Amino acid sequence: MNELKIFVPATIANVSCGFDVLGLALDTVGDEMTIRKVSEKGIKITKILGQDLPLETHKNVAGVAALALLTKANCDFGFEIEINKCIKPGSGIGSSAASSAGAVWAMNELLGKPFTITDLVKFAMEGERLASGVAHADNVAPALFGGFTLVRSYEPLDILSIHTPKELYATVIHPQIEIKTSDARNILKATVPLKDAIKQWGNLGGLISGLYTEDYDLIGRSLEDYIIEPIRSILIPAFESVKQEAKNAGALGCGISGSGPSIFALSKGKKTALSVANAMKLVYNKVGIDYDIHVSKVNTKGIKILDSK
Ligand code: HSE
Repeated sequence: MNELKIFVPATIANVSCGFDVLGLALDTVGDEMTIRKVSEKGIKITKILGQDLPLETHKNVAGVAALALLTKANCDFGFEIEINKCIKPGSGIGSSAASSAGAVWAMNELLGKPFTITDLVKFAMEGERLASGVAHADNVAPALFGGFTLVRSYEPLDILSIHTPKELYATVIHPQIEIKTSDARNILKATVPLKDAIKQWGNLGGLISGLYTEDYDLIGRSLEDYIIEPIRSILIPAFESVKQEAKNAGALGCGISGSGPSIFALSKGKKTALSVANAMKLVYNKVGIDYDIHVSKVNTKGIKILDSK
């Protein structure tokens, strides 16, 4: 195999109560990438469609992640990367993570899988470091593992795959503004009051338990963020109305996707997820804000091969 064309899923990080540790992969939205072996050593980004992003390897998140892998691999050839970006940068659904994760995943396949998925997460985190200044793993881990993932520890890196209930659907609305993850992180407070931490870790435990036992009510009760959302939600137009209407339409819970501005809701079943989408759209139609909207099952497979040569 010399060339792989892959689908790399968009991801929802944090999932309300799990800032920097919890994430999930989506099924119907993602990037396409082609990675091929070439005789010339090193990494070359040869084409980027859909977005205006740097082609220079050191300035591109996919390039930086690929270089991180290459320094640990023993190979006398190189790789070319083409990216068809369907996930808009600054949308809050893991755009930089998809490029970083896709590059290293495909390279590992083409090399005969010398690395574990957790190794690949580590390489892809270097792309996240370039994008936001912080090597967080809560988007790249679900992109690479699929389903829900929990970063139990960063040092050493310990990532757990979490069970995904079969009927769980996500609705994601993206108001057409861009929020840089670095900006959304800079406004956060460095310390957390103990009373908020108690509520938050109660919810994170509850959510993990709800996912394993497929207890949708428990999942809904646990989807609350007492620490990050109160600060970041002021950056997102009509956030409280979208959240309220999503819940009125039957969503189990609703919150900020990653660092925003996208807002996600989780629902039991596709029918409810579609009703939630309509309710969210109505809010933005009323206030006159443009948006993209996605309804997707949670993607338990992660990255998919579309073609190989
Ligand atoms: N956990 C990160 C943040 C995710 O919220 O800043 C960014 O997509």
